[in-house]
Amino acid sequence: MDHGSRVAELLLLEVLAGSGLSLREQLRVQLVDAVEEGRLQPGDRLPPSRQLARDLGIARGTVVDVYDQLVHDGYFVARTGSGTSVASRAAPRAVEPTASPPVPMYDVRPGGPDLSAFPRTAWAMATAHVLRTLPDADLGYVPPWGTRVLREQLTRYLARTRHVDTDVDGVVVTSGVTQALTLLCRVLYARGHRTLAVEDPSNAIQRQVLGRYGLQIVDVPVDADGIDVAALARTGARAVLVTPAHQYPTGVVLSARRRAALLDWAASCDGLVVEDDYDAEFPHARTFVPSLQGAAPDHVAHVSSVSKTLAPGIRLGWVVPPRRLHQDLLGAKRDDDFGSGVIGQHVLAHLVVTGAYDRHLRRQRTAYGMRRQALAAGLAAELPDWQVRGSPAGLHLWIEPSGPVHEGALVAEALTRDVLVLGMSTMCRTVDRRGLVLGFARLRTSDAPLVARRLAEAVRAAGDGTAADAAVPYLPSPEVAARLGTTGVDFFPAGHGPGREPPLVPDRPDR
Ligand SMILES: Cc1ncc(COP(=O)(O)O)c(C=O)c1O
Repeated sequence: MDHGSRVAELLLLEVLAGSGLSLREQLRVQLVDAVEEGRLQPGDRLPPSRQLARDLGIARGTVVDVYDQLVHDGYFVARTGSGTSVASRAAPRAVEPTASPPVPMYDVRPGGPDLSAFPRTAWAMATAHVLRTLPDADLGYVPPWGTRVLREQLTRYLARTRHVDTDVDGVVVTSGVTQALTLLCRVLYARGHRTLAVEDPSNAIQRQVLGRYGLQIVDVPVDADGIDVAALARTGARAVLVTPAHQYPTGVVLSARRRAALLDWAASCDGLVVEDDYDAEFPHARTFVPSLQGAAPDHVAHVSSVSKTLAPGIRLGWVVPPRRLHQDLLGAKRDDDFGSGVIGQHVLAHLVVTGAYDRHLRRQRTAYGMRRQALAAGLAAELPDWQVRGSPAGLHLWIEPSGPVHEGALVAEALTRDVLVLGMSTMCRTVDRRGLVLGFARLRTSDAPLVARRLAEAVRAAGDGTAADAAVPYLPSPEVAARLGTTGVDFFPAGHGPGREPPLVPDRPDR
């Protein structure tokens, strides 16, 4: 990559043919955004017009026109011999003055992507295109299992990137992994299943939600090779939920031997492996872990969403079930909500077909890879006795102590140092794993050493022991949430805390 393409990439510049906006307008809007958001600072030199035009695949005259326009508007200055640069008065968007600048909070809990990197411009342009071109009829009731155009694009995308073996009729669009899993639970229950095995540790909220669909949840330990398949077989369950590409939360990859054993288990008991592929788009090493589904489409339901790649708020995901469950799943999705939002589906399809989705993923893969590296290096320097576990992938890592640690006190001590973390033991049921699960998606590389230093201080202040672990809440207090600039999310409204909600017994299978 030469300097120019790096600049284009850092500035998040891209232009889309057929988006409904002229190339000139797209470039102008994005450059203004870059200045107002502070990605371009006063005095920064712009790439030469010839170079930027080549990187973006557009005519040089278009870039020259846009530069001229922005000089005229006061954003840029042009000097003979030294090219175009950002004008000194073109400051980033004004921030409301406050009495004293707030002390930053570092939210390194695992979970989400970097929402500040959401491709707003690409999404806006794709939305404009969809609204201009979508026939009226397509705003009516469409197949509840997803628009054909999105299912087509997902089929190709999943084959190309994850080796998923399906066709357009095999994909069911959902409102995220969560809905894909709850639909599967209902279908399994209706077919006589009474148990669902899950990994231990696993996502605590997801486990809680799935427990409300009539199935008893049984926990199967995860070790350095992934789920213990012999232990799974002993449970008697015929359905299991796994995260083989990057186990949540330990980060381990299911080993080749365990993959084979898991698929043998499924074949031997006519079982179902539910593959949650939630963050597989982000390998940070040169290892490719293909989907399990591609190896055994008759026994694997492949599930994923855009919650890690774009934003959880988009609420779009998909499931590719085995053929024998397909009809049941179509019915379950229809009964649940009559289909996911049509415009979002078309917008996502447009981003995939134009390559904008791939470009966004490439950019984020680079950014997340650098952030992981910076955090791991900081932790290695500050906490040499602790081990960074799991494969370099996804948006989180697990850091494990070599000896006893008072995890509850550690989380509390980190919070007093303005670092919000999640203890590993909050996600364990039968296994004893300790340490912290850290999300690095939102952590700037320049902040990583400071966060690592504060975590090391918190470790020293917390000491060892296990007494108060259970008291640590999963979600931040309202005060902390306010400092993070969010209202916080209470997944369990008043009076319905974890364990207190009645089970959601499924309706008859075919209403
Ligand atoms: C293991 C796992 N799977 C899936 C998801 C995403 O769920 P959804 O697509 O419903 O937002 C998450 C979110 O944190 C997760 O931790």
